[in-house]
Amino acid sequence: MSIQRAGAAGSRVQKLVSRTGLQPVPRPGAFGSMAAAPVDQILVGDCIHSLQSLPEASVDLVFADPPYNLQLEGGLTRPDQSEVDAVDDDWDKFASFADYDRFTRDWLSAAHRAMKPDATLFVIGSYHNIFRVGAILQDLGFWILNDIVWRKANPMPNFRGRRFTNAHETLIWASKGANAKGYTFNYEALKAGNEDCQLRSDWFFPICTGAERLKDAKGKKVHPTQKPEALLARVMMAASKPGDVVLDPFFGTGTTGAVAKRLGRRFIGCERDPGYIAAARERIAAVEPLPEAAFHTPLPKRQEKRVAFASLVEAGLIAAGAELFDEKKRWRVVVRADGAVALGDIVGSIHKIGALAQGLPACNGWTFWRCVENGAEICIDDLRARYRAAAPGEE
Ligand SMILES: C[S@@+](CC[C@H](N)C(=O)[O-])C[C@H]1O[C@@H](n2cnc3c(N)ncnc32)[C@H](O)[C@@H]1O
Repeated sequence: MSIQRAGAAGSRVQKLVSRTGLQPVPRPGAFGSMAAAPVDQILVGDCIHSLQSLPEASVDLVFADPPYNLQLEGGLTRPDQSEVDAVDDDWDKFASFADYDRFTRDWLSAAHRAMKPDATLFVIGSYHNIFRVGAILQDLGFWILNDIVWRKANPMPNFRGRRFTNAHETLIWASKGANAKGYTFNYEALKAGNEDCQLRSDWFFPICTGAERLKDAKGKKVHPTQKPEALLARVMMAASKPGDVVLDPFFGTGTTGAVAKRLGRRFIGCERDPGYIAAARERIAAVEPLPEAAFHTPLPKRQEKRVAFASLVEAGLIAAGAELFDEKKRWRVVVRADGAVALGDIVGSIHKIGALAQGLPACNGWTFWRCVENGAEICIDDLRARYRAAAPGEE
């Protein structure tokens, strides 16, 4: 949430809001274990029941922005006495930490069941709740992969001047368990978009303001804690693939749904407030998906099928007898009909000969050697990419 205020544990009783009346919550297991998940839909009602109704192991990614249990006591004013639009909604109120913990355990268990074995979960929170959420998800067997600090470019000041400006929120990223393998992390694409540097666990985004912030006819915020789309886009581009099902148990105004649709993912949202649901539906309907090239994620290099250099020769992408050379043209080798290369009398693979020429223990021949094609110099790795694109099923 973008609005924080400190305080002791609230004593106000959580009012479980049941304001929807739109359609009944499906009964647990309603969608069956083999049934298709209800994608691109908002499940109306209490999220725990909705999550329990989903087919087991049916979602690829969970993004959860649960109530933070902010424990606000009384109104908050700015120095000019104007009132701060704080999060004082019923859905954020719990009678005690024990109540909050019980709720957290219930929704996390239900989400765990709905996750595929290789799915991951992001849960966002502030100091009010994130430590409790973190302990509970570890108790439930989730395995924490990272904690990510979302540093806010434009945090709200601490109006009373009694504490540091609370300028960040924390996202916990977790897999289903310590042994969960094969989860999606688009490492190379993220690195490519980050000046070829590994993406760090501290993210810098503004809170949701301006045209992106949904307002009602009177100009009032539709939702007190609407998340920025850039944050959701980062989460989905990092940890999901096009076509994946992204589940959001606390859908609010549908930020997850809007971003999922734009990025070629599918969503399932749970929400019980009819006003937020209506806003989310309208918002998502207006979203135009991006062209696929804008979100397509190439396979990580280590998952790409191996290609033998000989296959390129056999496919006619490079001719036997052609010459390969390095970027600075210090060495030249001849491509042999069997897919090896010859440096004078020495015959070996593109990698071995590349290493030998440079006096190094190893060399990636694909990126080291170049050739001439139609009068232009190209790296032989480009030929390999062309080969893979033409024969994706080949070993
Ligand atoms: C922190 S807000 C999520 C805001 C959302 N990420 C967005 O960008 O609009 C939490 C949402 O969860 C909903 N909520 C809280 N408890 C719920 C429950 N038990 N079942 C379903 N929805 C719930 C609230 O109505 C609220 O909209």
